[in-house]
Amino acid sequence: MQPKKEFDKIAIIGAGGVGATTAYALMIEGIASEIALIDIDAEKAEGEAMDITHGASFVQPVEIYAGDYSDCKKADIIIITAGAKQKPGENRLDLVKKNTEIFKEIIPSIIEYNKEAILLVVTNPVDILTYVTLKLANFPQNRVIGSGTVLDSSRFRTLIGENCNVAANNVHGYIIGEHGDSEVPVWSLTNIAGTQIENYCPICTKECNYNKEKIADKVKNAAYKIIEKKGATYYAIALAIARITRSILRNENSILTVSSLLEDKYEVNDVCLSLPTIVNGSGIKRVLRLPLNKKEKQAFQKSAIKLQNTIKKLNL
Ligand code: 2OP
Repeated sequence: MQPKKEFDKIAIIGAGGVGATTAYALMIEGIASEIALIDIDAEKAEGEAMDITHGASFVQPVEIYAGDYSDCKKADIIIITAGAKQKPGENRLDLVKKNTEIFKEIIPSIIEYNKEAILLVVTNPVDILTYVTLKLANFPQNRVIGSGTVLDSSRFRTLIGENCNVAANNVHGYIIGEHGDSEVPVWSLTNIAGTQIENYCPICTKECNYNKEKIADKVKNAAYKIIEKKGATYYAIALAIARITRSILRNENSILTVSSLLEDKYEVNDVCLSLPTIVNGSGIKRVLRLPLNKKEKQAFQKSAIKLQNTIKKLNL
C-alpha cells in the first residue's frame, strides 16, 4: 500500500464538453482537492470553472480554476481531452493526423512543468494518441494511460443490464481492443451474478430476443448515434474518466479496460490497446491475460494490426 496523500491535484487539458464535464464529475466524486482547467481559449476555461465552482456549497471542498500549463506543476494526474472532435459521418481514426499534430504541442508543454504525473489520454483516436503520448513524453509506460474502452465496457454492461432487467453493475463484461470500429466484445467471459451469460437465461424469467450481435453493434455505434443527435458525447466518458481517476488516487487495484502499451499479449506488441488492467496509484499495475476464446483472440489481433498500420503512417 502506498501512504495516503493529503492533497490530490488534477490538471485537465481542454475545457470543451469532455474536459468541463470531467471537472464536474470529479467535483461530485469528491476525490480531488484541486482541479486546474487549461484551454487555449482561456475565457471558455474561466467560464466553465466559474460555473462548476458555484456548486461548491453542495459538495466536498475542492478548488477549481482556469489555469495555464504552469498549473500542471505538482498535478498527480494530467487528463488530456483537447483536440479536434468527431463530426457526424467521421470515425475516430479520421482525427489522427490533426490530433497528433496538436499533441506535438501539448505534451512538451506539459512535461516542461511536470515529469512525475500520470498522463491520462482521452482525446480520440485514444489508442493511437496514448502511443503518441508515450513516445513524446518518454514517461515510464505505467504512467501513460488511455481511457480506452472503459466507456464501451460500461455501454456493454448497461445494454445487457437493460436487456436482462438487472442493474448494470451486476453485469460483468469487457470490450477490448480499439476504442472504435474494431473493438471486441468478450462474450465468453461475460457474466451476471457470477453466472456465464448463456447459463443465466434459464434462471431469468423474461422471455426475450437476446441477440448478441445486436447488443455489440449498439455498443460499437453508440457514439455515432449520439453525435448524430446532439453533436458530441461527454457525460458517460466523464464518468469513465472519474472512475479511472478514483482507482489511481485511491490506489484501488480496480480492473478497468484502459488502453496501455502492450507487450506480448496474445502475440500483440508495441501498440496501445485496451485489455482488462489492474489500475492503482502507480497507474498501470498489470495488464491481465484472460482466457479469450479463439474468435475473440483473432478479433483482438486484427484490431492491433489495424492500429499498428495507422501508427506506421504517422511521422513520430
Ligand atoms: C465516445 O465513444 C466519441 O469516443 C467517444 O463517446
